[in-house]
Amino acid sequence: MCGIVGFIGEGNVQEVLIGGLEKLEYRGYDSAGIFVVDKEANGHLFKEEGRIAKLKSEVNFDLQSVVGIGHTRWATHGPAATYNAHPHRSANQRFVLVHNGVIENYKEIKEEYLQGVELSSDTDTEVAVALIEYFVEAEELSTKEAFKKALSVIKGSYAFGLVDQLDPNVLYAAKNKSPLLIGKGDGFNVIVSDAMAAIEHTNEYIEIKDNEMITITQDNVIIEDVEGNVIERESYIAELDANDLEKGAYPFYMIKEIDEQPAVLRRLVQEYQNDQHEFEIDTDLTDDLLNSDRVYVIAAGTSYNAGWASKAIMEKVAKIPTEVHLASEFAYDIPLLSEKPFFIFLTQSGETADSRQALVKVNELGHPSLTITNVKGSTLSREASHTLLLHAGPEIAVASTKAYTAQITVMAILADALRALKSEEASFDMAKEIGLAASAMESILSERDDIKTWVDSNLMETRNAFYIGRTADYYVAMEAALKLKEISYIQTEAFASGELKHGTIALIEEGTPVIALISGELTSAHTRGNIEEVKARGANTMVISTHALSREDDQFIVSNLNELLAPLVMVVVTQMIAYYTALGRGLDVDKPRNLAKSVTVE
Ligand code: F6R
Repeated sequence: MCGIVGFIGEGNVQEVLIGGLEKLEYRGYDSAGIFVVDKEANGHLFKEEGRIAKLKSEVNFDLQSVVGIGHTRWATHGPAATYNAHPHRSANQRFVLVHNGVIENYKEIKEEYLQGVELSSDTDTEVAVALIEYFVEAEELSTKEAFKKALSVIKGSYAFGLVDQLDPNVLYAAKNKSPLLIGKGDGFNVIVSDAMAAIEHTNEYIEIKDNEMITITQDNVIIEDVEGNVIERESYIAELDANDLEKGAYPFYMIKEIDEQPAVLRRLVQEYQNDQHEFEIDTDLTDDLLNSDRVYVIAAGTSYNAGWASKAIMEKVAKIPTEVHLASEFAYDIPLLSEKPFFIFLTQSGETADSRQALVKVNELGHPSLTITNVKGSTLSREASHTLLLHAGPEIAVASTKAYTAQITVMAILADALRALKSEEASFDMAKEIGLAASAMESILSERDDIKTWVDSNLMETRNAFYIGRTADYYVAMEAALKLKEISYIQTEAFASGELKHGTIALIEEGTPVIALISGELTSAHTRGNIEEVKARGANTMVISTHALSREDDQFIVSNLNELLAPLVMVVVTQMIAYYTALGRGLDVDKPRNLAKSVTVE
């Protein structure tokens, strides 16, 4: 949700900023901009509505600069227009600022301090840069003091990068609730929302915590808390491979990431197995879990859907009752909790504001928690009692795919480790079954041409579509529907197929696509019956089934698997349906409209 990057040091700063923004584009792509100060202390501002590619074509790359900041925007206050694009400049042009987050009291700030100051955008951010200039001019504060004072007035979430054009030897930054890292280089330093943005230049990073302010020069970084105490913090080496960030021969990241799923499953088995080939999880974490009487999974979007697909695994394998909650609801309506609750936060990015808000509440209540995330050192990982990593490699397409299957797999591994610690006999070999799921994924991935052909003749013109299934198939249907709607803009809903007759069936018209998922032995006959009911009302049906439950005219059949792990493979067919539909409709698969990958506002 907005990405920021800043660079201090001599050279073609524009190139570093634009390269960084390209890596951060997943965080928002409504507009983009950069500001640099050249060697003669002249400021240059470039901003464009739309994608970074458009900005890139406007930037003067011949300049030799000494400092710069850049931003890619996901609009919160004001439309996606150039005048709302960051960086924002103060009225007297001296200060220039980029911001990721939301300033909640921007109206109050305007009224109290900025009467008579002309603002040129609709954004909350412009108020921050105006406030800094106000403190410098009205109270004769230094830039640093003014920035610090502005931070004490601002309420909300922010990662800021600030440049004072009169002093281009310093880059200022601050953080509260929005991600920010400092990258340390030889003769330069950078600020970034995500290490990916500067990994080509440095792999040494310093974590910044909430309410910290940073003063950065070409070869020095000073971190201070709100009282002005200097904080010494070790840097760490980011284990990111720059090659993982490339699409290679793939046209879109989404299809690359769909294809990576078998490898991710196999990697997870290796990562979590010990030398005896048993799953082994940190005992502090398993002790907390074994001590609890109920697991509460909290998540948003695709991660929430992964929570539902994992619930039965946790209950049937580890025998711990498990509830699944939407993060955005949970924080404001906490259900009656069990005596010894344990919270699991599923989050690819580890930065989702809704999930973080729920974790803040859980921490206030003093309950133990685990974050299962793809991003080491992310906010939710730092703030939960425990972390397990997804080891899925960077997920860049906005529509999540490999994180979903990795989340279910880590939940399965965790459940199996708990089962073993409880000395419960295994009803199946989890590691072997995950391996089989990886192979089953490979085999269905090889049918992509047939999936594309089906999609091309059935989903190109439709306005709406439905996924149906029961139990685990319903949970996969929820994810399948989210994927199809978010990237193809076809209104797609998931229904528990038994519920159709209680109202939803009224929506079925001649030709409405209804895709049924069948992997559950107990429910398959009923779902088959529901397919007949919608067919009788004109639906254009398609069936994805497992081999054991398949019928000759089913369109896609996946290999048999333990039912608990069937979602891992069933979902892959639906990911490809979404991908080929968006592709066929000529849409930008990786960057669907109105969305951003890391949702850092509530
Ligand atoms: C959809 C998608 C989102 C995310 C959601 C939570 O394809 O990616 O629904 O799953 O925004 O994000 P994380 O998992 O980063 O907390």
